[in-house]
Amino acid sequence: MPNLTTLRKRQGDHFPEETLRKIIDGRNIVVYHGTRYMPVWGYEFWIEEGADEEAEKKVTIIIRNLISYIESIQK
Ligand code: HEM
Repeated sequence: MPNLTTLRKRQGDHFPEETLRKIIDGRNIVVYHGTRYMPVWGYEFWIEEGADEEAEKKVTIIIRNLISYIESIQK
């Protein structure tokens, strides 16, 4: 499992917000090499929130909150 507290350090002191959004959501990621082991959270949250247009807005908020949290735990 990757260490999510060293993302900024590993990116040369840059917090990769947009990349994280894509990785966590996962719905638009094409896996060219190997398999993705992490659940596709964009899909999981969308189902959990009712699988409609309103759910899509909640997915955006949930993922934004997760990214804020991950940013807050950077070493
Ligand atoms: C909602 C909670 C989670 C968030 C926000 C999250 C976030 C992330 C991020 C940002 C990465 C990329 C890290 C990097 O590139 O260094 C990653 C990779 C990964 N995560 Fe998660 N993760 C979560 C939960 C989980 C869970 C529950 C599992 C296990 C079932 C998991 C398994 C993995 C694995 C195996 C990778 C390596 C890439 C891959 O094989 O797909 N994650 N995660």
